[in-house]
Amino acid sequence: MRILIINGPNINMLGIREKNIYGSKNYKDLIKYIKEYTKEKDIEIEIYQSNSEGQIINKIQEAYNLYDGIVINPAAYTHTSIAILDALKAVNIPTVEVHLTDVNKREDFRKISYVSYFAKKTIKGKGFDGYIEAIDFLKENYDK
Ligand code: DQA
Repeated sequence: MRILIINGPNINMLGIREKNIYGSKNYKDLIKYIKEYTKEKDIEIEIYQSNSEGQIINKIQEAYNLYDGIVINPAAYTHTSIAILDALKAVNIPTVEVHLTDVNKREDFRKISYVSYFAKKTIKGKGFDGYIEAIDFLKENYDK
């Protein structure tokens, strides 16, 4: 199974940004954590990060016919981007939305998620483990 993992703006700043909210582990730690988990399993992954909405949309479009599942943490674009939602709908690849923090327990503007209109599942507030749960969910339900 091939899974594309997409991280949106400022996820590359983990370990530096708002440590009281996001913790002290950095983006490299996240990549290592995911790769170590999938290594032993029959899952091919690509991990992509961009601060740009357009690049994230391009990446989703390029996933068409290449990936069997998408795990996406759209970060702040979660709450603003109909264009990312439309790109996901266009390629129609089973998608799980992940947030490191529990967005429902934060500011009101974080309670809206456009991506969740398409995502099969939303995992929030579980830190790095949320990505693992998302991968397992795709593997269990959408493996080819
Ligand atoms: C986030 C939550 C978003 O509201 C925020 O803009 C982020 C990260 C999370 O992983 O908890 O950048 O998606």
